[in-house]
Amino acid sequence: MRHDHLIGAKQLSRADIETVLDRAAEMDADPDEYGDALPGTLLGLCFFEPSTRTKMSFDAAVKRLGGDSVDMGTVESSSVKKGESLADTMRVIAGYTDGIVLRHPSEGAAKLAAEFVDVPVINAGDGAGQHPTQTLLDLYTIRENAGLDDLTVGIMGDLKYGRTVHSLAAALTNFNARMHFVSPESLRLPRNVRFDLHESGAVVKEHTDLGAVLDQLDVLYVTRIQRERFPDENEYRAVAGEYRIDADTLARAPDDLTVMHPLPRVDEIAPDVDETDHAHYFEQAHNGVPVRMALLDSML
Ligand code: CP
Repeated sequence: MRHDHLIGAKQLSRADIETVLDRAAEMDADPDEYGDALPGTLLGLCFFEPSTRTKMSFDAAVKRLGGDSVDMGTVESSSVKKGESLADTMRVIAGYTDGIVLRHPSEGAAKLAAEFVDVPVINAGDGAGQHPTQTLLDLYTIRENAGLDDLTVGIMGDLKYGRTVHSLAAALTNFNARMHFVSPESLRLPRNVRFDLHESGAVVKEHTDLGAVLDQLDVLYVTRIQRERFPDENEYRAVAGEYRIDADTLARAPDDLTVMHPLPRVDEIAPDVDETDHAHYFEQAHNGVPVRMALLDSML
């Protein structure tokens, strides 16, 4: 894969994706083989929003490749708190590191950051925009469980603010997947995402009821309602708790349905689903390390 920066899933071709997933599978099979892949490489972790999985798996990935990381820490403990601009912060950290992983609450932040630095920038989530590295590990998990061809995928929950959804939908167009989007009317996919899917010729349907499509699905990708992005708490309360699945819901699903979630979950997947063969969300989170190892290996 030859990209200076990874900003959004739209920039990934099918060949790019398959190259990263193939390399991740090699690394997953024998992680100890790659301890000298990136000796001396220093990755900057710049998280302006909370993260467990993305931050820790990038940290683990670069260390497993023989590199290391430096962490900006929280916004509160950094000079961002003193009013430093994103451009200045990025310029400074680029001088300390060989690549920057950036999470930021503003859509477009990673693209902006990339304009000010001469090291690769990897978007680890920009507001309600994109989360392309999550998409790579999602596709890895889908490929392991259902394959990537002739796929019917249901994506349910907060489709308006869910950046993992926007990235995954864009990437799935490379595989001609049939996509069913299930959400309350107020949390439908944004117009620009629908437009891009339409332009790419994707087969897309929107529903308000999971029951309308559940029996057709190979994969059900459930997402959290992104409370932190609602301008009005009442708007959040009006939809919170809707679109929850439990083991009873899945009794009507195909036996081989793969249930995924980018995590963290709140209550949209009941704990009794964890005990079923459908549950693949913890495996999905674990796949973040080999996939991000493969990505760092190719970009740095
Ligand atoms: N899936 C994901 O981005 O999780 P974190 O917010 O914990 O990084």
